Amino acid sequence: MRRKIVAGNWKMNGSLAENGALLKEVVAGSSGLSGVVCCSPYPYLFQLQRELQGTHVAWGAQNLSQFERGAYTGEVSAAMLVDFGCSYVIIGHSERRAIFGETSMTVAEKFKAAQDSGLIPILCLGETLAEREAGITEAVVGEQFDAVAGLAGIDAFEQAVIAYEPVWAIGTGRTATPQQAQDVHRHLRDRIALMSPDVAGKVPILYGGSVKPANAAELFAMPDIDGGLIGGASLVARDFCEICRAAA
Ligand code: 13P
Repeated sequence: MRRKIVAGNWKMNGSLAENGALLKEVVAGSSGLSGVVCCSPYPYLFQLQRELQGTHVAWGAQNLSQFERGAYTGEVSAAMLVDFGCSYVIIGHSERRAIFGETSMTVAEKFKAAQDSGLIPILCLGETLAEREAGITEAVVGEQFDAVAGLAGIDAFEQAVIAYEPVWAIGTGRTATPQQAQDVHRHLRDRIALMSPDVAGKVPILYGGSVKPANAAELFAMPDIDGGLIGGASLVARDFCEICRAAA
């Protein structure tokens, strides 16, 4: 049995006051569960450390620098995330690829920087609507995956999480059907199995894109979907906790 994970990606949302209330409700509302993760903007990581240390909820960031230290104005290193108790870091989210120009090679370097510091990367992969309609979904996610496996090696995925997030389903309210998601998850796992059957059996592959309490259970029931990466619904404690319970 692969472990299930439900990670909240808060994106650029929150405030000290809002986060304080949200975190308390998430801790209380998901008690007894494992695999619950919250990923906040950088400035609030100290708050997550303060509120979540000693609880069952883990935390992480949404990005990091591929560089170790030095003259990189505005960047945040893997070691800094470790300083604030992060266990996880989201890498290569489609918003970072599309809006901030991250290439598959940069994503691979960030993945490696995270792992070299002991963080568990949550590697995001996904196709746009145009790519899906052109029938190249598997080629696109395959290329995104291969760039990282090429640099970090397949065994690196023993200590990593993959999140399949079709770009057309993010923040749109339009979820992939459980079968559409399962097909891509299966393709990824088969691709990994060609390199290492052992890693393929172990690596959690999460689905992300408009996951809500109403659709979480049917998505998580698919054999190759091991939980979710949750955007909007992770900002509403009751919804997020319900999604976490659907994965348990
Ligand atoms: P939504 O759940 O808001 O669609 O966002 C998904 C996502 O991008 C998580 O990383």
